Amino acid sequence: MSLSISLTINGEPREVALDDPRVTLLDLLRERLDLTGTKKGCDRGQCGACTVLVDGRRINSCLSLAASLHGADVTTIEGLANGQSLHPVQAAFIECDGFQCGFCTPGQIMSAVGLIAEGRAGDDPERVRELMSGNLCRCGAYQGITEAVLEAQKTLAEDKRRDAA
Ligand code: FES
Ligand code: FES
Repeated sequence: MSLSISLTINGEPREVALDDPRVTLLDLLRERLDLTGTKKGCDRGQCGACTVLVDGRRINSCLSLAASLHGADVTTIEGLANGQSLHPVQAAFIECDGFQCGFCTPGQIMSAVGLIAEGRAGDDPERVRELMSGNLCRCGAYQGITEAVLEAQKTLAEDKRRDAA
């Protein structure tokens, strides 16, 4: 059985034929669309390495069936930078040493972008840790990750204020 879905990926409209209705968004991105920035860690919703944004909300792409995403707007780590300019969250991860091996980093960054958009984190590091707890880091770079989220949140708020002025 094959079906076709239309969705927007990183701002680009795509028509995708699915030969297997059970294919996950993660496998669609990595294996069929060559968007390998999204990582496969556990493949069962426990590590957050596969986090992407769907319609602005962070989700584990390993748990999401591609067939259910007809019409969705998907953003992956490849879609964050603006040309040569890094997204403020990407820049903050570099500035704050928010990674070591980097395997979990795309998922951490996408989750951070989603969390900042949710506006729930405030400036409490403990709360940020709690709200990022679905993203595991085997290297234990949690301190830098938390600092990066707080830093990026400040930068984005300043950008917003400047744009509104
Ligand atoms: S690969 Fe999806 S949560 Fe681990
Ligand atoms: S930086 Fe290595 S798993 Fe997080």
